[in-house]
Order: sequence, then C-alpha cells, then structure tokens
Amino acid sequence: MDRIWEALDVRARAVADRPISALFDDPGRAAAFSAREGDMLFDYSKTNIDAETLDLLLNLAEAVGLAARREAMFTGAKINETEGRAVLHTALRNPAGSVQVDGRDVMPELRATLVRMRAFAEMVRGGQFAGQGGAITDVVNIGIGGSDLGPAMAVQALAPYHDGPRCHFVSNVDGAHVADTLKGLNPETTLVIVASKTFTTIETMTNAATARDWMAGRVADPAAQFVALSSAQERTAAFGIPAERVFGFEDWVGGRYSVWGPIGLSLMLAIGPDRFDDFLSGGAAMDAHFRSAPPGGNLPVLLALVGIWHAQVLGHPTRAVLPYDQRLARLPAYLQQLEMESNGKGVTMEGTSPLRPTGPVVWGEPGTNGQHAFYQLLHQGMQVVPCEFLVAARGHEPELAHHHRLLLANALAQSAALMRGRSLDEARAIAARAGFTGAELDRQAHHRVFPGNRPSTTLIYPQLTPQMLGGIVALYEHRVFVEGVILGINSFDQWGVELGKELATALAPVLAGECAGGGLDGSTRALVAFVAGQAES
Ligand code: F6P
Repeated sequence: MDRIWEALDVRARAVADRPISALFDDPGRAAAFSAREGDMLFDYSKTNIDAETLDLLLNLAEAVGLAARREAMFTGAKINETEGRAVLHTALRNPAGSVQVDGRDVMPELRATLVRMRAFAEMVRGGQFAGQGGAITDVVNIGIGGSDLGPAMAVQALAPYHDGPRCHFVSNVDGAHVADTLKGLNPETTLVIVASKTFTTIETMTNAATARDWMAGRVADPAAQFVALSSAQERTAAFGIPAERVFGFEDWVGGRYSVWGPIGLSLMLAIGPDRFDDFLSGGAAMDAHFRSAPPGGNLPVLLALVGIWHAQVLGHPTRAVLPYDQRLARLPAYLQQLEMESNGKGVTMEGTSPLRPTGPVVWGEPGTNGQHAFYQLLHQGMQVVPCEFLVAARGHEPELAHHHRLLLANALAQSAALMRGRSLDEARAIAARAGFTGAELDRQAHHRVFPGNRPSTTLIYPQLTPQMLGGIVALYEHRVFVEGVILGINSFDQWGVELGKELATALAPVLAGECAGGGLDGSTRALVAFVAGQAES
C-alpha cells in the first residue's frame, strides 16, 4: 500500500505543471471522467486526475480492502471498533431488509417503530392528534448535531413538498435561539420534539426544559404535547414523556447518520410519510449502487478518490461544497458534521499516528451568494480549494424558469472559470481596452490574471425531489466511509468532542459563582474574572 501512495506522489509531481484544461484535448474526457447513478451525473473531469492516476487511486481502494469493509458495514459487523458498535444507518432506509446484530434480527423492531412514526405523523397531519388549543400548527425540534442538522437541512431542502405543520429547529444553548423561536408560537397548538439519542446532551436538555416551562404557563398538560426521539427510554420517562410518544433507535445508528429514522420525524411531519418513504428509497438506491457498482463507476468511491487525491496526495487542506440551490443552504453545515466529525481524526484504527493528513476542512455556502463573498479567494487566492458544485437542471418554480437558467449558468460558469483562468496576455488586452497604457497597463493587467487550473467536481440531477435528496445524502455518507477506510481511521466515533464538554460542565458552576476556578489556566481565569466583573457592574 505504501508503494501505491508513493506512486501517487510521483504522479502528482509528474502532472503538477499540466493544465487541467489540456486534458480536454481528448474529446472523450467528459464522458470518461464522469459517472451516473439513476438520474444523477457526477462529473470529475475538471480535476487533474487522468487514467493513470485513477488506476492508482482504484488500486489504493482495493489494497485497503474496501469491498470487504463495505460488506462488513452493511451486514452488521461491529466496525465502530472503539465503541464496539455496528454501523447500520443503511438498515433504516431499507426496512424490508434483514440484518443481524449479535445474532438477533434487528429489523422487526425497526419496522415497528417506522409504523408507529407513520401513524403518529398521520394523526398530527390529519388533526386527530391535536394540541390543547386545536390542531398542531407548529413543530419545534429541539436537538443538536446529528439530532438537528439532518432534519433541519432536509426540511428546508424539501420546502416545495411541505403540506404539514410548520417546522422550527432549536439547537444552540444560547437562550436567544429558543427565545426567538418560541416567540410568536402558540403553545396550545405547538408540538415539541426532543431529539437526543442519549437524552443527556446539555444543550438539548436545557432547551427542552425551557420549552416545557414556556408551555406550562399556557397549557394544562405540557407533556401531552411533547415527543421524544431517543435511545434512552428511562431518561425520556423521567422527563415525563410517555412511552407511546417515544420513538427509539439503537446504538448502531450514529447521531450524524440518524436523519433516516426517528430523528427524521419532523421531516415526516412536514412532507408526509409517503414522501419520507421516497427520501428513504433514494438513500436505499444509493446503497444498492455503492454495494454493487464496479469501483470505476461507483459514485461514492469516485467522490472519495477525488477527495483523497486533493487532500491526501496534493495536500489541499480544505474543500468547498457549493450547492447552487438556496434550499440546500444547510447542506454545508450538515456535511461539516458528517465529514469532519467522522474523519477529523488524529489516530488510526490501530492507535497509531496517521501517515497522511486525515479529513480536510469542509466549508461552503450556496451559490450564487458565495460568488459575492469568498469566490475572490477561490479564483485568485494563493491556496487551491477544490470545489464541489451541486445543482439541479430544473427548479420548482416553473414561472421563475429564467431565475433557474441564471443559477445554472452561474454554476457551470464558475467551474469553467476556475479551470480555465485568464492569462497575462488576455489580461493585458482587457487592460488596454479599459484605456491603460505603458507601465500602468502592465500593473493593471497583473491584477486581472486568473491562474486557473483549479479543480472542481459537479453533481447535477434533474430536480431536488425527496428521492434525490436521499440519494445525495447517502452518496456523501458513503464517500466519508470510503475515505475513512483508505485513511485507516474509525469514521464512526467522535472522542474529540468530549474534552470541551467536560470543561464546560466544570466551568458552569464557576461562572455561577458557586465554586472557585481552581486549576484553570491564566487566560481562562482572566476571562472568568471579566464575566464576574460584568455581573457586578
Ligand atoms: O457533538 C457530539 C454529539 O454526540 C454528536 O455526534 C451528536 O450528533 C450530538 O452530539 C447530539 O447528541 P444527542 O443526540 O445524544 O443529543
């Protein structure tokens, strides 16, 4: 395997000065360096990957035993080795399937929960389950991380399909979030969903208690309008939520992979159970593709290999995800958790230091807004940021088709411009046309040069339907998995979030003046003193 990495390094040096655009001398390049799954087209031809590099990357995937690892995941092996857990979010979107964990078929329980979710969603949407002041008009999902980002992203993405109650999301422990969200809602017609796998997360439990107090002032029985999505049935009972309104899931569903099950209840309420099924079936279709398509035409494998080439071979430390879809505004944040909590690791499965950098920084914003903010750096900044464009061929507003054409034109133009760049000669001609001459022409021209040769991929699909969104999310999940396997890390734990939580728990009573901050570093002590000074003044 080391030999393959070394060969990739050699390859990177060999092609360093070759413009990506030169690869298009081959008229078959766009077709050869793209792949399809269903109606989705993934184009990675605007990268510096050629046939030789692709072969090496595919060899790498084979050498790490990707196929066996993938089968282990789908069949319920405990591949999350540091937590001793199976990784089976794929089972959530294939309810007709059968998977054994510890010799037990886990599917009957999963199916029973889905049936209960569906029945509950239908009752809420049909008004048979009502608040104490009438039919439910608003749903407030209280959760954080995977218990927020998935449903928040998907509810916004699928706005054209909403025909249920309005959905709101509260995640931050900052009281501003819950206060701003509840302001203007009617407690008598609001359903509160407390979404927390562990039911211990301090942000969620604090916000849930605040929401319960808010409701208690106005309705006789607040608990009657609360639902819990959690694996911790004893804790949900202690909070006062009866078992019939608790939708559970097992420890083999990781938080950032949980939108497909009970954590997706707000999405089901918003778009209805049938469309939620479409979302699941889009994910399931991507699973089937990932499991069976040959690596060279396998979208998650290819997306991962492009990522490995850019981050671990060429050393680009970040990548931008750029959905040209305002309704995918939360996708970058969703992918930040999915990718960075999964692969932002500094230790291999064996407990050793990784030999290459692990997961890159993932960031982004929808186009075209980003174009008027950070694209300056993408085009002319001194660090190369590989870009991942996503765009639908059609919008949902036929009467605004001209908007969509402009959106598409911008998406396609940006990837073309990043690759093509603008030479000094072209820039000189532009400066001359603007009236500059002599030394000033030269100076002005340099500011108008674009280095180009900046790689990007484009995922394009007909329309952002529930099914399509399911496919896109599953595609990215599997991409993270493949990259994790190649890097030899565990993509399914998140020990790195623990230390900050412990220190926050210790600091809260210090800030409340209940105990001294013994053992604090000098900076933190000074910050605590500043806060204390504000309280006195
Ligand atoms: O931040 C760590 C984390 O455990 C995430 O992985 C998870 O999605 C989030 O907190 C919320 O956890 P829970 O659903 O248990 O409240």
